[in-house]
Amino acid sequence: MNTYLLKITTVLLLVSSCNSYDMDPAQQQMDIDMSDFFVYTETPSDLLSKTTASKTDKRSCYTMLNLNRLLDENPGLEKRMYAIEYQTRKFMASKKPSGTPGSGPPGSNQDPTPEPSIPYDGTVYIPVVVNIIEKYNNEVSDAQITSQIDILNEDFNNANSNTAGVPDVFKNLVANYNIQFRRAAVNRIVSSKNSWGTRDAMKSSKKGGIDATDPSHNLNIWVCEIGGGILGYAQFPGGPEQTDGVVIGTDYFGETTGPYGDGRTATHEIGHWLNLRHIWGDGGCSVDDFVEDTPVSNGPNYGCPGETINCGSIDMTMNYMDYVYDDCMYMFTIDQNTRSRALFASDGYRSSFVTSN
Ligand code: ARG
Ligand code: ZN
Ligand code: CA
Repeated sequence: MNTYLLKITTVLLLVSSCNSYDMDPAQQQMDIDMSDFFVYTETPSDLLSKTTASKTDKRSCYTMLNLNRLLDENPGLEKRMYAIEYQTRKFMASKKPSGTPGSGPPGSNQDPTPEPSIPYDGTVYIPVVVNIIEKYNNEVSDAQITSQIDILNEDFNNANSNTAGVPDVFKNLVANYNIQFRRAAVNRIVSSKNSWGTRDAMKSSKKGGIDATDPSHNLNIWVCEIGGGILGYAQFPGGPEQTDGVVIGTDYFGETTGPYGDGRTATHEIGHWLNLRHIWGDGGCSVDDFVEDTPVSNGPNYGCPGETINCGSIDMTMNYMDYVYDDCMYMFTIDQNTRSRALFASDGYRSSFVTSN
């Protein structure tokens, strides 16, 4: 696994005496530890060999594999993701009640401030463009689209009925994202292609798919037959603009049938789009998801598990960023919310969504 885990070992030591005028003074006060940040992950086969779940239940999320591919194809991506992570950690540290940064000795803050990070605490409105590639006209019904948007609004705003199932240990961690998804447009094309794969062909009209609509102001969702039993995949913040968004398999989009028929594949993938990693951090007990209030774990959970202990703590199997069945996932945490919120701060990667409403 270590060959896949490219750890960036730079610890930024920012001392207030440093002579950098291009640096935010708040940053100069703060030691942001980036030593555990990584972008390349282990492969699904590594994961599968570690779990005891039955083969048929095993799923993998191609989001991380897609990220490995994008990193190989885009030389600047790792740097961009590092910068986004740095801004995110700075934002999260500023939200911590104790050890408030930016309170250095008087007179140490005299450098010109370039762009202060202004947190945005209001409702974030996310226009959703649904790009449907279907076998025949209206294979994906309008009701399916409506139900998907409704599910997203319930899940991200802690308004779904099964949040009641959150066990006592995690009850005080349940988040309300204060995000509203709104249908902006629906684009449809008919195609006989059976499997679109996970290399973004569906996102390109040249490859027979549908081009993204203004990704800095819209969440693009592609709905198509992915193939290989894959439910969906996402692109993390920082990736190429023209492929920004999430892909959801036709059978898992909105209210359908079966254990993945409650529209939560989109909730999970949009979690990635909002910079969340998997709950187990895509590695063993020592690898984190960069979120403090989610317990460490060493792999995904499947099906609908009861209390599960890994790495010496109770797994938060009901988190949307695990791999359980749709009706067994029903929470994001407060710190996951803060991590995502960093994107909407004035210096955040998705701040354009705030100014557009
Ligand atoms: N990308 C994951 C997959 O393809 C999604 C897992 C979502 N889980 C769910 N219960 N919908 O398997
Ligand atoms: Zn995932
Ligand atoms: Ca964690």
